[in-house]
Amino acid sequence: MNDQATRLRRMIEDKHAVNGTGFGTGNNKIGQRAGKTGPRTIAITSGKGGVGKTNLTVNLAIALGNMGKRVIIIDADMGMANVDILLGTTSRVNLMSLLNPDVVLEDVLLRGPYGVSYISGGSGLEHAMEMTVAEREILFQKLAACEDWADIILIDTGAGIGNNVLDFIVSADEVLLITTPEPTALTDAYAVMKGYSSIADQPNLKLIVNRVIDEPEIREVVGTLSRTAERFLKISVECLGYIYDDQMMIKSVRQQVPVMAGHPDAISSRCIASIASGLINGQREKVKLGWRGFLKKIFKPSY
Ligand SMILES: Nc1ncnc2c1ncn2[C@@H]1O[C@H](COP(=O)(O)OP(=O)(O)OP(=O)(O)O)[C@@H](O)[C@H]1O
Ligand SMILES: [Mg+2]
Repeated sequence: MNDQATRLRRMIEDKHAVNGTGFGTGNNKIGQRAGKTGPRTIAITSGKGGVGKTNLTVNLAIALGNMGKRVIIIDADMGMANVDILLGTTSRVNLMSLLNPDVVLEDVLLRGPYGVSYISGGSGLEHAMEMTVAEREILFQKLAACEDWADIILIDTGAGIGNNVLDFIVSADEVLLITTPEPTALTDAYAVMKGYSSIADQPNLKLIVNRVIDEPEIREVVGTLSRTAERFLKISVECLGYIYDDQMMIKSVRQQVPVMAGHPDAISSRCIASIASGLINGQREKVKLGWRGFLKKIFKPSY
């Protein structure tokens, strides 16, 4: 299995190797801090795996970029490097490389194609608590500088409530919980809502329903999940948007060109653009912790 995975990875490697050195020369403007608490931190998560987190993250980043926002993706889905795969890139550095004294943020902040900027998490976020205090301090200090590069930070997490995923999502200001209408995905989405609402100080979770067929299906999914959350968890869950099941999305994944870049008029692209404008123009709770707050919770939980 592993061998097969390695061979596959090699096959797509070298198609686009990206280095983190292009950042200073690109059109990303440095130095404009995004308000007092820094960038908005939005975690994108799901209960069941394979429901569309990474596709949403990458295409949302492109849509937000089209709206003039500076976005950084943190690929926090341990070791899977999903973002690389969707972009057809290979990154040779990751967040852990920052522990090397010669490596600075700009070296790991990768400028991928289609204007997508991202940091591969490696095992850095998952194993934060196994590091020494000094190592965590280095990562905190170097990563904090992301606030000079971004208005919004999207964190693509792993699925489910294991592997510290709950730590990430409660540390972010906002959580987008993605599900498909399948009963198994809904049950697992509910488990995330339950875990999250039991530990979040101020729950701020919005639902996104992916791969929907028609409007009645959307209403049914949103109705079921929000009624259950209100009744059993005493939290209100709003739906930020939905994405139609779209062959063009599947084709784009195979071609390793995000649908928003290759087919901006596809139905899935239009749905994601609408989610992006909901994030920017919709009613928004005030930012509580921001990027530094997120990093503190991950790297300095006892502070
Ligand atoms: N709207 C859509 N229409 C059709 N197919 C879709 C749609 N969204 C996602 N898919 C399909 O689902 C697959 C999985 O998507 P993706 O990799 O984004 O899921 P994920 O939640 O990040 O998975 P993992 O949990 O493994 O990280 C895609 O490769 C694509 O084939
Ligand atoms: Mg993924």
